[in-house]
Amino acid sequence: MRRDARLSAALIAEQEGQDRLSAPAEIRILTTPQELFEAAAEEVLRCAKDAVAQNGRFTIALSGGSTPKALFNLLATNARTVMPWDRTYFFWGDERHVPPTDPDSNYRMAEETMLSKIPVPASNVFRVAAENPDAAEVAQAYEQTLRKFFQLKPGELPVFDLILLGMGPDGHTASLFPGTAGLHEKSRLVIANWVEKLKGSRLSFTLPVLNAARCVVFLVSGTDKATVLHTVLEGDAPPEQYPAKLVRPDNGKLIWLIDRAAASGLSKQS
Ligand code: 6PG
Repeated sequence: MRRDARLSAALIAEQEGQDRLSAPAEIRILTTPQELFEAAAEEVLRCAKDAVAQNGRFTIALSGGSTPKALFNLLATNARTVMPWDRTYFFWGDERHVPPTDPDSNYRMAEETMLSKIPVPASNVFRVAAENPDAAEVAQAYEQTLRKFFQLKPGELPVFDLILLGMGPDGHTASLFPGTAGLHEKSRLVIANWVEKLKGSRLSFTLPVLNAARCVVFLVSGTDKATVLHTVLEGDAPPEQYPAKLVRPDNGKLIWLIDRAAASGLSKQS
């Protein structure tokens, strides 16, 4: 059997194993994008309050792209006075391999829409140093940042209170794209994942980190995601072709917050 066929078989077997072990996903369909982002902000606030009450801090990994912008704006305005910002620690589940000033930077997007508007201490914000031209070094450095912050022993995984994820029209999530080597990474925490179609590397948490989280929330909005969402939530395509299918927290909650436009391809609309 070819190597990639063996890897696919391994991924499918693992996925089937996880399906048996993971709690079922909670799928919430909201009528409008505004309601979607309000529900997401409520979920972030709920996670934050629970985490601070239990552990004295709230660790969150942000997603990138365009969808979270409206959520970040809401957190910086409506939730500004109720979030425990001084106990909130920001990380990124993935980052483009660009400087923080680049228009494509996920850090820059979060800085502009939220971080610059809230009283979070700068020391609580752990940016991916993606300005370094050596992507492997960037990944290694961010992995060390996680190991130090979470005080990890060898082999241990960081357990984030909340990881926000989006999903591309190809079913990628974080920067785990279909058919990329990053899907099979089981020991590293952060990788530089070469994405052939982008002709570049992306920095990304690996699946073990995503699946170690206490709570993972997918935010999916718009008709351009309807087809892929049906495939991911209701289809039986091989998981490595739709990496979002591989996100099944081992012990945590999985919540899909979807607006009606993105849900238009699902068999169930409520
Ligand atoms: C990124 C993201 C990525 C994103 C999806 C959806 O760096 O681009 O982390 O995984 O969530 O591509 O992007 P949109 O929200 O722009 O559709």
